[in-house]
Parts: sequence; structure tokens; C-alpha cells
Amino acid sequence: DMSAEEQAFQARIDAGVKIEPKDWMPEAYRKTLVRQISQHAHSEIVGQLPEGNWVTRAPTLKRKSILLAKIQDEAGHGLYLYSAAETLGVSRDELLDALHSGKAKYSSIFNYPTLTWADIGAIGWLVDGAAIINQVPLCRCSYGPYSRAMIRVCKEEAFHARQGYDIMMKLAQGSPEQKAMAQDALNRWWWPSLMMFGPSDANSVNSAQSAQWRIKLFSNDELRQRMVDQTVPQAEFLGLTVPDPDLKWNEERGHYDFGEIDWEEFHNVLKGNGPCNRERLRTRVKAYEDGQWFRDALVAHADKQAARKAA
Ligand code: 3HC
Repeated sequence: DMSAEEQAFQARIDAGVKIEPKDWMPEAYRKTLVRQISQHAHSEIVGQLPEGNWVTRAPTLKRKSILLAKIQDEAGHGLYLYSAAETLGVSRDELLDALHSGKAKYSSIFNYPTLTWADIGAIGWLVDGAAIINQVPLCRCSYGPYSRAMIRVCKEEAFHARQGYDIMMKLAQGSPEQKAMAQDALNRWWWPSLMMFGPSDANSVNSAQSAQWRIKLFSNDELRQRMVDQTVPQAEFLGLTVPDPDLKWNEERGHYDFGEIDWEEFHNVLKGNGPCNRERLRTRVKAYEDGQWFRDALVAHADKQAARKAA
């Protein structure tokens, strides 16, 4: 049962009122937002690494500049989200420490390697496509700073998804080798992209509370179904085959039926045993340590300026 304060808070949530940083909120509401927003931010920052692997090997200057722009956007998404998390009273250093120590999660999808250029197309098409399906509802979530960050992020993600699909189209309509590369990328990225939506609703520990607080407006399985329904026709247009023998349109349901996700793989990646988990974390820790001198210099400079002003 709820206290009078919690009842008033829930009534505001139910009325669709945006909660702002200075409003009273249950400690558990604040904590789950710090958890989700910081892990969302970590996902954006770590998500730059698989793509960065192909900047020096993009097939044309145009593709290289688009990829650079996308990676820069992801860094910006991370910054918006860390800033949104900071409105809840946590520091950037605390959040980064949680990532670097392995305590905080980031999206499982970024623990897979980018083996060919087609992977860059598959990431834009499938990973950013999934991210958009997950992030559009978050534009209407109950916490003001998070919902506003999402509006800007979604605009830029639309470009990310479209350029990815453009790469896949170029390959699928190219030589047999190029089409084979596109099919190989779809084979490797299809199931991990469905895992981005989280465990099944039955196994989701946070969903019920996040739904009550209007942080999660649609369930993991609802958004996953939306991803399948939207993406299968796109794969067909490319002349590619979705790697799921159980995939079948179900006229009654008005949705695609699809096969079971390999939840053992999912939990393995979350435990840190994915193909690239150790490399991704090592890369982030090294980047942070290599930048320490620069942060120290900024602080020293700011201190000098403050002393000069005070003098
Ligand atoms: N990868 C890593 N961890 C995952 C996960 C995944 N794909 N799916 C679920 N989890 C974790 C959850 O974080 C939770 O662990 P925690 O309590 O320690 O945080 C646990 O598994 C149980 O999952 P739940 O469904 O109960 O947890 P949530 O209610 O938090 O739902 C979520 C999980 C749907 C990912 C939700 O947190 C969410 O919507 N987060 C914001 C969106 C986000 O993080 N997207 C990342 C996509 S990548 C991206 O955006 C970059 C883009 O530019 C490509």
C-alpha cells in the first residue's frame, strides 16, 4: 500500500503529468530511472565501437562520412542521456565507474563483432531500427528530461536506420558476392537484434513497475513483435531470407509468428561472455584513462580562471 505522497505521485503519473527533476518522487522511481537511463547512455557510447571498426575501411568517401556522422550522433545521444541521468542526482563519474567496473549493463547487441561492411548496413537497418521502436514510446515516458532527450535522439536515429537500409539495398542488388555478404550479415544480426528488447514479459523483473510508472509504455514482447512485423517485409524487398524457419504470417493474429529466442545466448552475453564483451569494456576503460590528463587540464584551467576572477 502506498503513502499519501506515493498516491499523489501515482495520480500525476496516471494523469500523464511529466515528472521533473525538482518534483517529489519515490526513491525507487529515481533509482530505476538512473538504472535505465545510464545503461541507455552506456549503450550509445559502447555502440560506437563496432561501427568505428569500419571507418577506415568504408568502401567510398560518402559512406565513410555518413558513418562518421552516425558515430558522432551516438556520442551525442550518450551525452544527452548522461545529462538526463545527472538530473536525478548522480555524477557522470559514478555512472562511468559503474560501466567500467562491469556493474552497469549496456545493450547486449554491441557485444557482437562487425566482420564485414554489410554489418554496418545490418546495424543501421536492424539495430537502429530496433532502437527506434524502443525509443519512440520513450518520447512519451513520465520523466521529463528522459522523454525530451528521446525526441532529439529519434530524429537522428531515423537517418541511421535509413542509411543502413540503403547499404543493404546496394549490396542485395549488387553482385552475387555482395548479396551473399548482405545475407550473411542478416543471419548474424537478426536474433541478437530481437534480444535488444529484453527478456520475455514473463521473465522481465522490471516491466510491471516500469509500466505502472509509465516508463515502459509497451512490453518487451509487444515491441519485439512490432520489430518482426515491420522488418520481415523489408527483408523480402531485399530478396534476403530471415534466418528463422518458424517465421510465418498468422492471418488471425495479424502478426508474424516466429521462433524461440536462444535465451541461453542472451543471458550469456549479459553475464559478460559474449564475443566482444571483454574487448568493448577494455576499450572504454583505456579511452577513459587516456583522457585523464585532458580532464585534469580542464579542471586546472577552470580553477585558474576562478582564482583570477576571485582575485
Ligand atoms: N542488453 C543488456 N541488458 C538487457 C537487455 C539487453 N538487450 N535487455 C534487458 N536487459 C537487462 C535489463 O537492464 C535488466 O537488468 P537490470 O535490472 O540490471 O538493469 C534485466 O535485463 C531484465 O530486463 P527487464 O526487461 O526487466 O528490464 P527493463 O524494464 O529495464 O527493460 C530495456 C529492458 C527494454 C532495455 C529497457 O531498459 C529500455 O527500454 N532501455 C532503454 C532503451 C535502451 O537501453 N536501448 C538500448 C538499445 S541500443 C541504443 O539505443 C543505441 C542505438 O543508437 C543503436
